[in-house]
Amino acid sequence: MSPFLLTRTLPEDATGAALRADVRHGLTSASKSLPPKWFYDARGSALFEEITTLPEYYPTRAEREILVTRAAEIAEVTGVRTLIELGSGSSEKTRHLIDAMPSLHTYVPVDVSESALTGAANTLLARRPSLDVHALIADFTRGLALPGTPGPRLVAFLGGTIGNLLPTERTAFLSSVRDLLAPGDALLLGTDLVKDESVLVSAYDDAAGVTASFNKNVLAVMNRELEADFDPDAFEHVAVWDREREWIEMRLRSTADQTVKIPALDLAVDFAAGEEMRTEISAKFRQDGVRAELAASGLDLTHWWTDERGRFALSLSAPV
Ligand code: AVJ
Repeated sequence: MSPFLLTRTLPEDATGAALRADVRHGLTSASKSLPPKWFYDARGSALFEEITTLPEYYPTRAEREILVTRAAEIAEVTGVRTLIELGSGSSEKTRHLIDAMPSLHTYVPVDVSESALTGAANTLLARRPSLDVHALIADFTRGLALPGTPGPRLVAFLGGTIGNLLPTERTAFLSSVRDLLAPGDALLLGTDLVKDESVLVSAYDDAAGVTASFNKNVLAVMNRELEADFDPDAFEHVAVWDREREWIEMRLRSTADQTVKIPALDLAVDFAAGEEMRTEISAKFRQDGVRAELAASGLDLTHWWTDERGRFALSLSAPV
């Protein structure tokens, strides 16, 4: 059995402190918002897994189609010996890549969830016992220190999660990834593409209401972690397409005038009836935009693959 290492680069309480700071900042601003990363406690992660199986939510299936079709080509053009995956979660789709990479020596999954990392590593090592797995518990939006592993290295950021970042945050993030890459290394990036508004809105407002439950789960997280008294029934799920900025925005709309107490922050927050709080943006992309954003961060787009129906893209880029 080859080594399985788990390194924590986050202090034990970093998550709690970050949640308190984000909630205080987001709920005391003139227009209220919360960062989407707080959806993902155990229940939120399970709800997201359920979303990926919904008929309306195409991105996971579209990206898997590309990975299955192109894994051998990606392995061939990169010659990768170390695969680093940011936000690896269950590593379910990554399996297709790893299976196609005979020269792969080390897999470095990076996630904030220790349980997801341990589970994914166990599954992968059962399939490929000779692989070195060095899991990192880390918040990759706050800068990364990677273990010294053999090159060429491929950094993968899949699922379209880059769409959760605002344009300025994306540039900063891509630049920090660029700084991790040496000549011969590459970035594999998953981006959801601009398409018909009705298809996009349905994907984020499904008929079964799973996305609504996922959205409202952030209220349960604040209730549990900050002793808040949000009533999930007093908020409605909203998903809108912003056609100028080309992103889906998820919000929670207060159905009444109400005051919510958040004892852990010594805070009381007023919501007016109809007031909306933004909980997520999910930006959609075009090839020219992806190329330009990569270029602005010192990355040259070398390959662009989409699913058969052109809904989702994987791009490969190299440091210039
Ligand atoms: C995990 C960020 C890629 O934006 O599509 C799914 C999250 N939100 N349904 C996305 C999500 C609502 C998802 N990402």
